Amino acid sequence: MDGIQTPLDKKDIWSDAGTTRVPYQIYQNPEIYAEELEHIFYGSSWNYVGLECEVPESGDYRRNFIGEREILMIRKNDGSISVVENRCAHRGAQLCQGLFGNTGAALMCPYHQWTYTLDGELTGMPFKRGIKGKGGLNSDFDMKTRGLTNLKVEILNGVVFASFDHDVVPLEEYLGPDMMQYFTRIFDGRGLRVVGYERQIIDCNWKLQMENLKDPYHAGILHLFLISFGLFRLDQESKCLVDDNKGHSVLMTIKDSEEGNEDTGGVRIAAPDFTLTDHDLIQPLLEFGDRISLSIQTLFPSLIIQAQCNTLATRHVLPKGPGSHELVWTFFGFEDDDDAMNDRRLRQANLMGSAGYVTLDDAEALEFSQLGLAGSPEDEVAVLEIGGKDCESNDHLVTESLIRGFYMRYRDVMGHGKAIT
Ligand SMILES: [Fe+2]
Repeated sequence: MDGIQTPLDKKDIWSDAGTTRVPYQIYQNPEIYAEELEHIFYGSSWNYVGLECEVPESGDYRRNFIGEREILMIRKNDGSISVVENRCAHRGAQLCQGLFGNTGAALMCPYHQWTYTLDGELTGMPFKRGIKGKGGLNSDFDMKTRGLTNLKVEILNGVVFASFDHDVVPLEEYLGPDMMQYFTRIFDGRGLRVVGYERQIIDCNWKLQMENLKDPYHAGILHLFLISFGLFRLDQESKCLVDDNKGHSVLMTIKDSEEGNEDTGGVRIAAPDFTLTDHDLIQPLLEFGDRISLSIQTLFPSLIIQAQCNTLATRHVLPKGPGSHELVWTFFGFEDDDDAMNDRRLRQANLMGSAGYVTLDDAEALEFSQLGLAGSPEDEVAVLEIGGKDCESNDHLVTESLIRGFYMRYRDVMGHGKAIT
């Protein structure tokens, strides 16, 4: 190539091995990252924005991100919710700075006080007609075309989603019937309440985070706490379910015994004399009318819905360049939780988050992954053959089929050729 760098041909970076080989380029190449933002996050996807209960009063807002673009979820005067981009249509300044707040009856840019309705329509600005006939805006300036970017919004049992594409398929169709069933298993229509938040920066590509929650294989190996106290083992009764488009999934297990001696496949465990003094930490109170004690649902592109024992949370993955992301945890319960259940949710939240007994391991392992693949040659790949080569649902945990499925959907959306498997 005579030392001249040619643009990467993204369609050819995937080998004939389908999604059993994942090119390391997709975790680090800035061109590919820019295309992900455009095609996935700003394209025809439904993105998580927050919980309706986070903005109870008129004018309340929650600031969030879709991809790297800032958005505001706002409660309007009529009780409905709007989602607009947090960027003034004048000179691009950020309108709201707090993560949460109340904007009153209108949105006003702090820089030149351009003012918008809570739907983002531009209603006025200071000195519109100048002073004494001089300056200001020309009469042909069209206020109607200079509003904030207004996103399409759907709310499903208290969970708010938005899309930059106003022609996106309805949310229920986007999720499909199987994912709807498990989404509404948790979000069953009861009022929600926030139990707490955590935010952490993890220096790895956003897709490695999504992979982690589609990877039951690692959970029975990496997480010493889970294995040692019987909260998760790879021989448990389980189910891995993918949707028809393969990008969404649910991973669930039935809790049987704790601190037993089931098949650990030779995995090292903590010293046998390790015990827990507080067993409530790992004791699920089955609350959804079935025997499932762990379910992790991942919705394409970047939402994880966690229900481990009684700690419930959305985990929202915010990409921050090719090599980093922010993970935002919103721990929630229901309005009708009693004090004992609220205590249980708080106690079991110690398993999760940046310093969680379980998830502490993930952040470190994911950063090891990013460090390990950095600078790899263009043709180097990750191998995903645990559990075979397909992307189908199954009833065991020693599998990477959900990750292979994620990359089928990813290739479809990115236009990276049709996946073969
Ligand atoms: Fe994990």
